[in-house]
Amino acid sequence: MNLQYSAESTARKLFTPVRIGPYTLKHRIVLPPLSRLRAQPGTGIPSDLQLEYYTQRASDGGLIITEATAIASSARGYYHAPGLYSEEQVAGWKRITDAVHAKGATFFTQLWHAGRTSHVEITGSQPVTASVDPAYWADANNVIDAPDGFKPVSEHRALDTDEISTIVGQYRDAAQNAKRAGFDGVELMAANGHLIDQFLQDNVNKRTDRYGGSIANRARLLLEVVDTLVEVWGADRVGVRLAPNNSFNGMGDSDPHALFGYVVRRLDALGIAYIHIIEPRIKGADTIAEGQPPIATQELGKLFRGPVIAAGGFNPETAEATVANGDAGLIAFGRHFVANPDLPKRIADGLPLNPYDRSTFYSFDARGYTDYPFYDASLADPLPAA
Ligand SMILES: Cc1cc2nc3c(=O)[nH]c(=O)nc-3n(C[C@H](O)[C@H](O)[C@H](O)COP(=O)(O)O)c2cc1C
Repeated sequence: MNLQYSAESTARKLFTPVRIGPYTLKHRIVLPPLSRLRAQPGTGIPSDLQLEYYTQRASDGGLIITEATAIASSARGYYHAPGLYSEEQVAGWKRITDAVHAKGATFFTQLWHAGRTSHVEITGSQPVTASVDPAYWADANNVIDAPDGFKPVSEHRALDTDEISTIVGQYRDAAQNAKRAGFDGVELMAANGHLIDQFLQDNVNKRTDRYGGSIANRARLLLEVVDTLVEVWGADRVGVRLAPNNSFNGMGDSDPHALFGYVVRRLDALGIAYIHIIEPRIKGADTIAEGQPPIATQELGKLFRGPVIAAGGFNPETAEATVANGDAGLIAFGRHFVANPDLPKRIADGLPLNPYDRSTFYSFDARGYTDYPFYDASLADPLPAA
């Protein structure tokens, strides 16, 4: 069944200009990071399919963000995910940034360290995290994409304090590679239970060093990485993605309001390009609180003077309302952008949306990736009789 978006709706504010750092966008519909597992297996080199996929979704004056992209071989979480730590990966991304820019879009890359959401067969060494939690690897629901198929994560170990500067250095190297690959900026993946989130939230971080305990200590890794990214890119080309109060990948915090409020205040003081917030009504790729308003954006947006990208559970109407009332500056559409390569045009013109097929989110080939149709008026159903 097609999701209908009425042509009478007035998606006006979504199609007004907005600035992200030095870039002036022509509309406010963002392609968020979506891991789709179509990079070259194992090597993480971007594939021809990815070139086609991102080119399809680039629009004049739009912002698109890559899927989670590993900063180092030991940072990987999926066998078919891309990286930004080898020359071949940089060259592979360069082809894609060139094609995206030719369509007039702005292109950021999401820099990613999976931490414990991984497997030793992918990382080559035991995955690392803030603190050891055997219950995490014992839970068969915590699966990743390994060389021989989807399987539970492997055992992990806690990072030593003096190893953390190496991780920060890997972010620096990947940020520099992102420049050479032709991106316009970088987004730090600090959401959805990956390494930075594992340090932030206190149901995972049980450390007693300067990276654990107080909120300031748990936010230290995030802020050290952001400082490094800012050194490479300048604050106005660095974004941060957060998932406050999100339970995906086993996350949880005793006081998420205080934790994420602190983080956003610190990011505001740095004047970064944007914050990108995933609403708690979403868990990973699922809606778990249908109808809940964008509560995290409403709360945290008040603490950040720059642009806020809101993500999670939006449709064209709620997106328009959210930017029109000032709760967010831009709206990211995940699953709808999966299924609608021309999503901004469809929303602008009030056209129906293709439904997404969840079974092909992570299925490695063109089906459900690059074969969703662009809107074709000649194939449209005739209007129902009045
Ligand atoms: C297939 C799939 C892969 C995703 N991969 C990532 C990712 O790599 N990085 C990330 O920050 N979020 C990821 N997400 C979350 C989306 O960016 C988005 O926040 C989520 O889909 C909620 O938005 P929606 O309700 O518009 O789909 C993924 C979601 C889906 C459905």
